[in-house]
This record gives sequence, C-alpha cells and structure tokens, in this order.
Amino acid sequence: MFGLILLFGVTVLFVTGLLSYAAYNPDLARTNDETPDKGLLGFYLFSWPTSPYWIYRLTQGIHVTLGIVLVPVLLAKLWSVIPLLFSWPPVRSFSHAVERLSLLLLVGGALFEFATGILNVQLHYIFPGSFYTLHFYGAWVFIGAFVVHVAFRLPRALRAVRPGRALPAAGDRSAALVSPRPAPVTLSRRGAVALVGAGSGVLLLVTAGQSVGGRLRRTAVLAPHGQDPGPGPNGFQINKTAASLGIRTSDIGPGWRLTVLGGGRRTVLTLDALRALPQDECALPIACVEGWSTTDQLWRGVRLAALAELVGLGTDPPHVLVESVQRGGAFASAVLRDNQVRDRRSLLALWVNGAVLSPDHGYPARIIVPGAPGVHNTKWVTRLTFGERV
Ligand code: HEM
Repeated sequence: MFGLILLFGVTVLFVTGLLSYAAYNPDLARTNDETPDKGLLGFYLFSWPTSPYWIYRLTQGIHVTLGIVLVPVLLAKLWSVIPLLFSWPPVRSFSHAVERLSLLLLVGGALFEFATGILNVQLHYIFPGSFYTLHFYGAWVFIGAFVVHVAFRLPRALRAVRPGRALPAAGDRSAALVSPRPAPVTLSRRGAVALVGAGSGVLLLVTAGQSVGGRLRRTAVLAPHGQDPGPGPNGFQINKTAASLGIRTSDIGPGWRLTVLGGGRRTVLTLDALRALPQDECALPIACVEGWSTTDQLWRGVRLAALAELVGLGTDPPHVLVESVQRGGAFASAVLRDNQVRDRRSLLALWVNGAVLSPDHGYPARIIVPGAPGVHNTKWVTRLTFGERV
C-alpha cells in the first residue's frame, strides 16, 4: 500500500519538478540555468506559459507540499522493507547484485531528494554547491532507479492490495515481509496505516497554508518565513530582504537610473521619467520556488512591451535580459521569453497595492510576470536589454 501511494506521489513530484525546471526557460540563457553538463537531461518541450497566471503557484505548491506530506509514507515504506534490505547473504547471484545496486540508488536517491528539498524550503542552504544542480541530478538518479523498481515490484504490490487476498500467516517464509519469529503484536496493520496517514495529514495542515495563502497562512507553522508578513500594502511575503543581499541605499536612491537597451538604441530614465510614462495595473501573486505564495497583489507600473517600444522594438517585442543592482547571487539577472514580455500583465512595477514598493519588495522598480517563478520577478531592476543574444 505504501509503495502504491509512493508510485502516485513520486510521479507527481517528478512531473511538477520538471515543470519547475521548464518554468525557468532554461534554454534561453545561461543565467536562467547554470546546471553544468546537463546535455540531453536539459531538454525542454515548450515555452513556459503566462496563463493561467497562477500556474506556477499551483505546480510548485503541489511539488513542495506533496514532498513534505510523503515523508511519513517514505519512512514507513523503508521501515516495512528493512528485513529485506538487510537480508543475508547480502548478494546471492549476479542478477541479485545488480538489483541491490539499483536499490542503493533508489533508497539513496529518495533520501537525498527528500532531504535536499526539505533543507532548501527550510532555508538551510548547507549544500556543497548549488541546490539546483544537486536536486536536478539527484532526481534523475532517483527516478531511473524508481522506474526499474516499479517495473519489478508493481505486480506484487497490486496483488497485495487485491480485495479478498489471504494474508500470509506469521512465520510463513515464502512471504518475504513476514517475520520468521514474530514478537507479540503492538500495532495492527490498520493502526500502522492510520499512524502514517495521521502523520501525513498533520504535515499537510501545517504546510499547505503557505501555498494557499490568505487566512490559511496562519496554520502554516512549518513555514520558514513565519505566518505574519506584517501590515500595510507591502505586507506580504519576502524571500530575500534588501539588507540580506547587500543592497545599499545609494544603489536605489536618487542616483538610480533605468537603462533600456535594444535594436542598437539606448535610453536612460530617472524614476520620475519612468513614473511619467503610461501606467498599467494587474493583480498577480508571487509564487516562490520554495513552495510559498502570496495571494494576488495589485501591481502598477510600465508594461514591458511599452519599454521595448522606447528602443523601437514595440511591435512583437523580443526576449529581454533583466539585470538588478544586486551584486552577485544566483538571481541577480534573468532572461524573460518573448511571450512573457508581450503579455499585457507583464510590468516593471513601481507600486503595489496603492503604495510605492518597499526596499524589500524591490524599490524603485521590479518585474512582475504572470505565471513566472518568484525569482524571475527580479527586484531592484536597473537595466533591460531587449532582443540581444544572451
Ligand atoms: C521512494 C520510493 C521507494 C523506495 C525507496 C523503495 C524501497 C524498497 C526497498 C529497499 C525494498 C526492499 C527490496 C529488497 O531488498 O528486496 C522494496 C521492496 C518492495 N517495494 Fe519498494 N520502494 C519505493 C517505491 C515503491 C513503489 C512505488 C512500489 C509499487 C509499485 C514498491 C513496491 C515494492 C514491493 C512490492 C516490494 C517487495 C516487498 C516484498 O517483497 O514483500 N516500492 N522497496
């Protein structure tokens, strides 16, 4: 039963993980995907869409919430097969040795993926290198071994849950998961399943609120950013504050300028000049790769397509390289695809919920694009380069 739950759950985790990879538009530029030597594994099948605007909120919310909720199931599954894992002699034949090797990759891959994912969403960046690279390659190792395991074990798992099947008797040596010398029963099968179900249910309750947002955020006691993002128009979730990224007051003070480049032209705008351009409004959430989201916020600013027009690229605007004043860090710049630039809701936002952006939300100007991962909504933007090879 635990295996079958994992079959469904891990498949959803894998698909939503691949979608998260695709959401970065990894083919566009090195700055969008710095995974080394990815070769064929770096495939992508489509341009990440901008509609529905909550798409990344949904897919990544599922990825992170499900990953956490499956932990008790994974632990129970490993507990249930411990007698097999440590059976003696450890290797009986060549084919058995090959299977054991695949189990090493399966169990190691599962523990590695769950551990790195949970450490990341809990903001413990203790990885030797980039989390993305580790989680990306770990996923492929895990899923390869997972497919092999399922191919061999699915018939048995299905037989085990067939209604009316006879349960193996205690001491029956032909049934692998029956103890040869059973101790007195302390927990029934139903009790074991109920315990795991209750564990997953509690984890769901204390996690899902960070993706659903609104009042449910209060139940998300495991959310590393806390339940209360503070009052006022700028009172919604922040991943990295201006201070934590070393943004100086002088970087975003009166000396700040926006440079727009493209088509061989260059325009430099002050904040007042930017505010004097026609402004548009849209209601969009911030959806973080770490699984949390805000509810829709009302953004106001200049459409990206209108900024492309400033350098003569107004009809069918191309992709754009967005650069922040941020010095270093993985997401100081990002490339947005042409479909993202062309969407009427994609803005260089100057206001949110009727107020000027706070420094932590990217003052004086930040990107907001429907459906994009939070880190591609670059904050403290200082340069936009349209249509150049990047
Ligand atoms: C996170 C994913 C999984 C891990 C880490 C895992 C791990 C293991 C391990 C270590 C064993 C013992 C193998 C041996 O030494 O013979 C095992 C057995 C088994 N697994 Fe999985 N497994 C996973 C997913 C699944 C799934 C999705 C299914 C369902 C198709 C499944 C069905 C089985 C079955 C039927 C057995 C044999 C139990 C028996 O012999 O009675 N497992 N698993």
